[in-house]
Amino acid sequence: MGIDIHVEGLTKSFGPQVVWQDVSLTLPAGEVSVMLGPSGTGKTVFLKSLIGLIKPEQGRVLVDGTDMVAGSDREVYRARRRFGLMFQDGALFGSMNLFDNIAFPLRRHTRTTEADIRRKVLERMAIVGLDGEERKLPGQISGGMRKRAGLARALILDPQIILCDEPDSGLDPVRTALLSQVLLDVNTVTDCTMLIVTHNIEIAATLPDNIGMLYRRDLIAFGPRELLLTSDQPAVAQFLHGGARGPIGMAEETDGAEHAVVRTLTFDIPGQMVPSPGLPERAGARRHHARVMARLNDLPVSAREAIVARRAGPPPSPTL
Ligand SMILES: Nc1ncnc2c1ncn2[C@@H]1O[C@H](COP(=O)(O)OP(=O)(O)O)[C@@H](O)[C@H]1O
Ligand SMILES: [Mg+2]
Repeated sequence: MGIDIHVEGLTKSFGPQVVWQDVSLTLPAGEVSVMLGPSGTGKTVFLKSLIGLIKPEQGRVLVDGTDMVAGSDREVYRARRRFGLMFQDGALFGSMNLFDNIAFPLRRHTRTTEADIRRKVLERMAIVGLDGEERKLPGQISGGMRKRAGLARALILDPQIILCDEPDSGLDPVRTALLSQVLLDVNTVTDCTMLIVTHNIEIAATLPDNIGMLYRRDLIAFGPRELLLTSDQPAVAQFLHGGARGPIGMAEETDGAEHAVVRTLTFDIPGQMVPSPGLPERAGARRHHARVMARLNDLPVSAREAIVARRAGPPPSPTL
């Protein structure tokens, strides 16, 4: 079962350049969250800060009592074991077949017997839809399969939190949709806390329970998916429509110059994905639903209406 991550007042700079400032949010246990943002807004830096690979100058990242920013190396290293990481390119060893790539963390960090390694690897490969491919080399398979292999490896030490950096990069829309389904199914089976960083609107609109957006050094919102998807903030609206007109420009320096272009989002909020047939109901969705309904009055009217319209009943079951 996943655990919460609490981010409090996080600020990171490189020299004079502030990447983002005063970022606070909670990734709720077992729920799927997406962090959106144009390129260069510090999404990867944010992921690396969560696992203590990059140290922000201010703020805290609390993972079960450990502060990943100010904790000792030993504490941070231990807490990092709770995370599974899926990198943009899969980060596989080119000379190892998929089985050995996925088994690598087990052989490196544990004393698991070969029989148990085999069982665990094949189980993870089945979850991500790679049955029968264990003898293939990374160079012999498609980009989408490499990503799924990277995900299987991220799962091998039973992480409570999974972080994915642009899982859609280099994939066509169909492969992206398939990978989204795999990510949701992984959440269903493991009940892990998930954070997916992406600039893909399709993923943001259909996959997560929660969405945040980084823009111009600030976290401009983080909350239930309906909060972002009904937002009338110009940068959010432009981003969700993928439009060229709006405050987001080619260059960071000119961002904001066209703030006058304010549009109201009028598209229907798409339904959220459900687990593949045969899988149980998603525990994270149920908890998310209860949590959001309990705090409905804290949300803007537009988000509230969208939530009530869609969630009057229990969350959709896989059979619907
Ligand atoms: N190690 C580093 N040293 C200096 N600047 C960095 C470093 N890592 C990232 N940056 C800068 O931080 C900003 C955010 O980068 P990044 O997190 O990779 O953006 P994103 O993943 O959203 O595209 C960029 O301007 C990048 O150049
Ligand atoms: Mg990045």
